[in-house]
Amino acid sequence: MTSTESLERFFGSEIKEEVSLGPLTTLGIGGNAEFYFEPYRIEDLVLVKQLGYKFGLPLHIIGGGSNLIIDDQGLKGIVISTVSLKGIEIRRKGILIQIIAETGVQLKRLVGLSLEEGFTGIEFAVGIPGTLGGAVFGNAGVRDNAMSDLVSWVETINDEGEVTKLNRDQIDWGYRYSALSKERCCISRCCLNLATSSRQDVWALSRSFWEKRVHQPYGFKSAGCVFKNPDGDSAGRLLEVAGCKGLRKGDAQVSHFHANFIVNLGNASFSDILWLIQECQRRVKDSFDIDLSLEVDILSDAQLQI
Ligand code: EPU
Repeated sequence: MTSTESLERFFGSEIKEEVSLGPLTTLGIGGNAEFYFEPYRIEDLVLVKQLGYKFGLPLHIIGGGSNLIIDDQGLKGIVISTVSLKGIEIRRKGILIQIIAETGVQLKRLVGLSLEEGFTGIEFAVGIPGTLGGAVFGNAGVRDNAMSDLVSWVETINDEGEVTKLNRDQIDWGYRYSALSKERCCISRCCLNLATSSRQDVWALSRSFWEKRVHQPYGFKSAGCVFKNPDGDSAGRLLEVAGCKGLRKGDAQVSHFHANFIVNLGNASFSDILWLIQECQRRVKDSFDIDLSLEVDILSDAQLQI
């Protein structure tokens, strides 16, 4: 049986061919996925992982499509969107609140839940787009807070389809880094530790985090911050001083609001974005002798040196 027949046999019309990925990302760039699948059950995520491995098909997980730059030449293999894996369970143990959520739950839904219920801990995530799995994968956060502060355990699926639960301290975490991303793990569920508080306090703290984002380019298509902050400095500041703000290539532009964002003004191409990224890196290197490393994830079948 071929890979196509096998995927169709298990998932029927739910497995789609040649799906355009651009509209599924916050940057709005990306060619077609050879196969595209949006599982509704963790069991199907396990199964597609096993089948992909069996047939030697590359597997890409796009979560909510934020923090991602996808090649407009498209991607071979199976692209999985986790956005329909959105089950949530809340456990209360005294003042400790445990949220056990499937990988595709939107972070904004968890922030909304905390605001409604008065759960504290996740206020920093207000305004961060994307899914829980994606946020844990890349250890998303702000300057002094990150998802790793909240994680109790993470459930992952390996190539053979085995499900493993990793406790927080079994995972190596860093600034915008987790060993889960280094090993390209497939996350199925996460458990976050929050605590009860007053709704008023949770609202106030969330608002203070929200206000720190006023200089970011809202209403524009972007993948979020492009570069990690180097130790003790801000990529946005360095990029601005190096004269990158407003730089444009085709429809891709370094935002006038915040220099660590590249926005798609309409029909930016993958190569326009790559050109801008490299130009920004070059200017910061020339001005400060600092190598900016990427925060965004680039998905491409080509071997890129960035
Ligand atoms: N700055 C400039 N010019 C700019 C942008 C920033 O001079 O164009 C200066 C600011 O004035 C400020 C400093 O740089 O003094 C830091 O800027 P900001 O407060 O905007 O914070 P950041 O370090 O650029 C970080 C995260 C953001 C997160 C904000 C929340 C990184 C790479 N960025 O930004 O995360 O939203 O804090 O306060 O860690 C993301 O992860 O995608 C992201 C955008």
